[in-house]
Order: sequence, then C-alpha cells, then structure tokens
Amino acid sequence: MNPQAVTFYDAHPGTADLRAEVLSGLSAETRAIPAKFFYDERGSALFDRICELPEYYQTRTEMAILRRALADLVELIGPQSLLIELGSGASRKVRLLLEELRPRGYVGVDISKEFLLSSTRRLAHDYPWLDVHAACVDFSAGLELPACGDAARKVAFFPGSSIGNFDPDEAVSLLRDVADMVGPGGQLLIGVDLKKPVDVLNAAYNDSAGVTAEFNRNLLQRIRQELVSDVDPGSFEHYAFYNPVLSRIEMHLVSRDAQCVHVDGAEFAFERGDSIHTENSYKYSVAGFGALAQRAGFVQQAVWTDDAELFSVQLLRRASRLHPHA
Ligand code: AVI
Repeated sequence: MNPQAVTFYDAHPGTADLRAEVLSGLSAETRAIPAKFFYDERGSALFDRICELPEYYQTRTEMAILRRALADLVELIGPQSLLIELGSGASRKVRLLLEELRPRGYVGVDISKEFLLSSTRRLAHDYPWLDVHAACVDFSAGLELPACGDAARKVAFFPGSSIGNFDPDEAVSLLRDVADMVGPGGQLLIGVDLKKPVDVLNAAYNDSAGVTAEFNRNLLQRIRQELVSDVDPGSFEHYAFYNPVLSRIEMHLVSRDAQCVHVDGAEFAFERGDSIHTENSYKYSVAGFGALAQRAGFVQQAVWTDDAELFSVQLLRRASRLHPHA
C-alpha cells in the first residue's frame, strides 16, 4: 500500500453555504453567523494557536485526561475498529489513541479541506499500517459519509468539546446522527467542557495575546475575501462573556461605530454597539451531558475528568434501542 495514500471524499461545503448563511444571518433581528464558518485555513490555524494559550485550559486538559484513560480505553474499545474523527482539524489528539487502540481504519471528517488533507496525509505517512480516509463534510448538516472499507465496528471520536458549539437541541440531533452512523454496538468518545468558575471561563475566551479576538474577527476577513464585501474586520470589537443562565460562553463582534456594511449587493446598517453573535460554547455538568446523550440514544459507559474537574472525556455506547426521533 502507498503509505501516503488517503481516500478523499469531498461534499463541497463551500462558498454557497457561506453566502446564504451570512445574508440570512445579517438580515435577522438578532444578527448571527454560524460558528462553523470560523474554520477556513487561517481560522483553523488561529484556533490551533488558541489551543496553545495559557488561558485556554481545554486542549492540554483533554490531552492529559486522554493519556490517563488510555489503558481503560484500550479495554473498553478494543482493536480493529473504524475510528471516525469529527472535526479532525490537525488530528493531534487522535495520535494519542492510534498506537494503543490499533484501529483498522481512520476517517477524518472536517469542513476545512486544506487542513483535512494535510493532516490526514501526515497520519497516513506516520501510520503506514492504517487505512486512512478524509471526508470534507459539514457534519452539522448531516453525516452522510462514503463507505469506508469493510463493515468494521465504528467508534466516533469527537474531541475538543466542539459539541458545546451546538445549542442543546442541535447537539441532540447531531448525536442522533452519530448514533445512526456508528450503528448497534458502536461507541462515541467525546470531549465535553464542564461548568466552572466564571473567571476561568471568561479568561479562556479573552486571552491576553488577543488570539481569540483575531479568530473572531477572521470571520469578517473571510467574508471580505470569499464574498463581495467591504466589511472592515477592524471596525468590530471582540466581545466574549459567560452567560450563567444559559451555561454558555457567548462570542460577539460589536460594531465600534455606526456604519454600513455591504455583502453581495445587500446593505446592512449597524449602530455603534450593535452586535453579530458568532459563537456559543455550552458548558455541562457530567450528569447534564449524560441526560443530553440519553436523548440521542447513547448511554455513558465511562467518564474521566481532570482533578480540578475542568473538562471531561466521556465514552458513550449506543443504547440497543434508539429512542424514536422527537
Ligand atoms: C472548537 N470549540 C470547542 C472552541 C470553544 O471553546 O468553543 C472554539 C473557540 N472559540 C473561542 N475559543 C475557542
């Protein structure tokens, strides 16, 4: 086998979606653009830098939990599975698992094509025994994946608490899709960020180096580059705070002045202080996430946390019967 060969599937989640969602999002009474559009090549690279920031505890905490859970995971998952990583990005965390779990195949699923291709190619190079697939898919819009090899036991891997970027009902619907995808006996290994003191959360989304602010504003840079738009990213301020009522971080871009922004022929007027809501990041208790997973047809098989209970890694097993869709 050519060790660098990656089977590539492209559902083309592209500019057409960006245009439609930006135009409808900016026309709505509460202006919002879905967080999935952060992740063009520059956005993915900025997110990678966020993961290294001292204030952003999530990545290093999840890695440490995964390292400590490895022996248990080998026992609970076993070898020869098909490991499907959702939002695979730089595919760094999965490297921790591959050597120990020895899956038969790996499918990286991500919306960002360039990042997906380079990271899966590196994996194929570094793990020549692994059958590597890449699927460029917007999995928030459905999880239609190509048939990948023979019907191995499927284990989804969804690290980084990206599930927190979906509203709870959307999260249930996504997890239902995952339950359908992994099928009977299938599992989901998922990273879930936990509720914690507000100052820790606020610092994580307002880092002193300003990388999160740049990540947030990059959404406007992307609109400027990919659509016909005069939007000036510098004319919007990064604003992120924890909303304890809804247990979520909210990120916004707030207009520094009154201005008109044009996108593909449409005009949007902003008063000074008007916001575009760009992201939610929900925080859960272990029990709260268990209840959400149950609505999607999963049961918590095992849960690991760090000592300070900042973050959790949860192994879910598909319940033998899926609840009928609500
Ligand atoms: C990808 N996701 C889990 C990150 C989060 O923490 O919600 C995205 C992020 N937004 C700002 N910083 C990081």
